[in-house]
Order: sequence, then C-alpha cells, then structure tokens
Amino acid sequence: MVRDARHDAWQAADSYDRYMGRWSRQVAPPFLDWLDVPAGVDWLEVGCGTGALSAAILARHAPKSLIAIDQSEAFVSAAALSNRDPRAAFRVGDAQSLELEPASRDAIVSALVLNFVPDKVGALAEMRRVARPGATIGVYVWDYPGGGLGFLRDFWNAAVDLDPTAADLAENRRFPFCTPEGMSDLFVSAGLAAPECRAIEIPTVFEDFDDLWRPFTLGAGPAPGYCATLSGDRLRQLADRLQETLPRREDGAIPLTARAWALRTTIN
Ligand SMILES: C[S@@+](CC[C@H](N)C(=O)[O-])C[C@H]1O[C@@H](n2cnc3c(N)ncnc32)[C@H](O)[C@@H]1O
Repeated sequence: MVRDARHDAWQAADSYDRYMGRWSRQVAPPFLDWLDVPAGVDWLEVGCGTGALSAAILARHAPKSLIAIDQSEAFVSAAALSNRDPRAAFRVGDAQSLELEPASRDAIVSALVLNFVPDKVGALAEMRRVARPGATIGVYVWDYPGGGLGFLRDFWNAAVDLDPTAADLAENRRFPFCTPEGMSDLFVSAGLAAPECRAIEIPTVFEDFDDLWRPFTLGAGPAPGYCATLSGDRLRQLADRLQETLPRREDGAIPLTARAWALRTTIN
C-alpha cells in the first residue's frame, strides 16, 4: 500500500454509508439514466461497496443479471444483504483481475472506485476484456481536484491548517487525474475509445454540524481513517476549525454540493 493510502479503510459498512454511501446513492440514478443501457442485459459493477449503485441498477434498469464485486468482504456482505434479488450476485474480487470470461457483460459500471485502485489502466483494461461488442462502460469519480466534493474539501482545508503534513493525504492531491482530461487519458491508455464526460452535481445538505462531523469519526474511508489517528484534543480542534469555515442556513443546516465526473464509452 502506498503511503498516502494508509488510511483507506473499507470495512465498516454502516459507517461508510453514513459517510459516503448516502451521497453515492444520489448520484447513481442520474448517472444510470445518462448511460441509457437497455433493459434485459448482463451488468457488472466493479467496486460495489455497500451497494449504492447496485440498488439503483436493480430498481430502475431491469437487468437480466448483475454481478457486483468488491475487494472488501464486509462491504460485499452488506451489499448482498440489502439487495436480495435473484438477478444479483455479490462477490469478493479485485478490479485489476476480474474472474470473468472475456466478452461476457453488456454494461460495466464503477462508482467512486477507480482512483483507489493501484493499477487504474489495468482495471479499465479488465473492464474492456470482459465487455461484449456494443457494451457500455461507465464510471464516476468525485471532482476532487476542483474541490467539487464540498464537505471533503472543507475538511482537508481545516485539517491542513492545523497539520500541514496532512496535505499529502487529501484526495485532491492524491487523485489529480480525477478530471475529464485525466480520466479520458486513463480510458485511452487502456485501449478504450475516448469517453464522453459530464458533471453530475447533487446537493449535500447536512441538517447540522453533527450530521456532517459524526461520519468523519466512524473510521470508514480515507478522511475518517485520518481522524482515527488523532488524539481526542486534536480531533476536537479539527472539529472546531472545520465548524468555523462552513456555510450555514438560518435553520442551522449546512448547504454544500458534490460534483462527480461521469464518463461513458462504448465497445466497438
Ligand atoms: C469510495 S468506495 C465506493 C463504493 C461504492 N461503489 C459507492 O459508490 O458507494 C470505494 C470502494 O472501492 C473498493 N475497492 C478499492 N480498490 C479495489 C480493488 N482493487 N478491487 C475491488 N474493489 C476495490 C473499496 O473496497 C470500496 O468499497
């Protein structure tokens, strides 16, 4: 594991859902509508996590089958539990080496995963290998470099104010390729046609500071993993600093937004 990835923690399914899964669930429907995959085909989801995108595929896109893989046993179990559906199979697996036949899937999707995979081009090449002619490949990643994930941008700004060494852990620095150009280059390097790209922006309105802050203290994901390394005093300082910087509505809610870059391409 590279140094900056040392806090990437993908074990606690409930904690992940409260931290990030709840927002990925909101990006999934507009993303899938944009992909416009016909009903009755064989889907693969790479890095399903706790099942945010899987649930939307099953509920809205009438798949013939869905295979969903993730490296985290705990997440795969949680996804399977919350998506009991005879068309779906949830398995532990690695995006870089898919245990699937060549040319066996019609729609291959991946949400908020590619940036965490060490060999991104290898993972895209694996998606290409298992795609049938005419298949759609679609992924989304947060706009980390543009500060598009407001609550995470503000978290790291506060963290770096107090501890400049935290800068290397922030996703905007770790994942500079999460831009339309950077992602397109990865697709092309994997032998895929240059993808179409669009932004998907959702509101992330936190009802109060606790609603925003608590998920950071639950240990699932890179920023919560960083929080888990701080002493009680340092964690309180960080919460105070973050709180000072956030916008507030009159009712106390914290209105932020999250922007994902969505990419899609078709296999010839
Ligand atoms: C930010 S979460 C996204 C989960 C889910 N797709 C969502 O939208 O909520 C990143 C996921 O990528 C998975 N992951 C990271 N590297 C992986 C790899 N090499 N192969 C499979 N899954 C991987 C993690 O276990 C985690 O579930």
